[in-house]
Amino acid sequence: MGRKVAMLGSGFIARFYADSIQGYRAKDKIVSVYSRREESAAKFAKDYQITHYTTSMDEAVNHPDADVVCISLPNNLHEAAVMACVKAKKAVISTKPLGRNAAEALRMTQAVEEAGIFNGYLEDLCYTPKFLKALQSIKSHALGRILWAKSRETHPGPHSEWFWDLEQAGGGAMLDLGCHCVEIARNYIGKDIRPVEVMCWADTQVKPIPAEDHAIGLVKYENGAIGQFEVSWTFRGGMDLRDEVMGTEGTLWINNSLRTGFEMFTTGKSEEYLAEKAESNTGWLFPIGDELHEFGYNHMFADMFDSIERHAKPRETFYDGYVVNAILDAAYKSAKSKVWEPVILPVWRGKEGVTKESSFVDYDDQYYLVKEEVTHYGTTKLILKDKKTGKIVEKVKE
Ligand SMILES: NC(=O)c1ccc[n+]([C@@H]2O[C@H](COP(=O)([O-])OP(=O)(O)OC[C@H]3O[C@@H](n4cnc5c(N)ncnc54)[C@H](O)[C@@H]3O)[C@@H](O)[C@H]2O)c1
Repeated sequence: MGRKVAMLGSGFIARFYADSIQGYRAKDKIVSVYSRREESAAKFAKDYQITHYTTSMDEAVNHPDADVVCISLPNNLHEAAVMACVKAKKAVISTKPLGRNAAEALRMTQAVEEAGIFNGYLEDLCYTPKFLKALQSIKSHALGRILWAKSRETHPGPHSEWFWDLEQAGGGAMLDLGCHCVEIARNYIGKDIRPVEVMCWADTQVKPIPAEDHAIGLVKYENGAIGQFEVSWTFRGGMDLRDEVMGTEGTLWINNSLRTGFEMFTTGKSEEYLAEKAESNTGWLFPIGDELHEFGYNHMFADMFDSIERHAKPRETFYDGYVVNAILDAAYKSAKSKVWEPVILPVWRGKEGVTKESSFVDYDDQYYLVKEEVTHYGTTKLILKDKKTGKIVEKVKE
């Protein structure tokens, strides 16, 4: 038997989720949908053959057939929705960001844990096939010690009015898109490594809004690794989703949307949907083969529902959502103060007191190896550092 889902929300992400839930593991079914307006709930119910729809959130959460609640609501409604699930003692999975800030996210995390209910954080970009393969390579040390993990999400801006309202959204591009980037980098660097401090630039360069439409941030981790996020709500040319990871033994680049190896030219006679936030359907285009799969939704729901069935924790939990919110809170502070701001984590479950590993390579008893290079004129040059004096010398390998 599959899972029976109450869907809260019938908008943009709810449809991606529903397509994945009902399309991939055919045994899972949405049994109730809540939406603010009756006609949206009814339309969603019709499109996905759901027998029950309602404009009461409590009614959907408490639907007797529903065993898991999926939150697909605007950010300011996540906490109330989670608390309704806590009251009903129903398993809950929530879209990102978990909260508008860490205080909200921590309250949600503590409430679900105290109630002993299953909780999953729907961070789809930590489930893309490319990401999962990259993470597996990193875990098996293919890249050595991870030094720097960058993730970028930029697009021309979100599709509903509430995103642009600071009170409802809780932030601008940094919260909306940076939450993905931060959790991606955290996975690459190690979720058990404490994020220590953040330096961030954020600005409103284009849109008439109080929130930021651009931001770049650096997240320093206790082991010396650095996470970097780059976000924009005014990027032109579609949706740019990219990760770059650098380690002592290797490098990894992932391109999730543009330039994925699928390029198409058209004069524009077709009205066909191409990909999320594609800005054009003429000229050279970058379609996505299967968004549900390539953006991670299928692997994500499979992990969530398999974990419920195994009474196990999924890869991404509310606790992860709370750590992400805490990092972004520090980023917002830094954007204002213009200095490194500490990441405040009243609850931390990872390692403590990790120090930076040394990766000095011994050349011999006297020297460390700085660099070895074969030149275009056929010699092998060595750059060495004297261990005692610290002097850098150059030698030609015989
Ligand atoms: N890749 C992703 O993980 C991803 C992508 C997009 C959105 N999201 C997240 O999903 C959530 C919903 O975003 P969306 O893009 O589906 O938004 P949307 O505006 O398309 O849909 C929001 C839904 O919430 C319902 N709703 C109930 N009360 C509301 C209220 N007071 N104001 C506005 N809507 C109300 C609306 O009826 C609608 O069904 C957000 O938290 C967003 O950050 C995640």
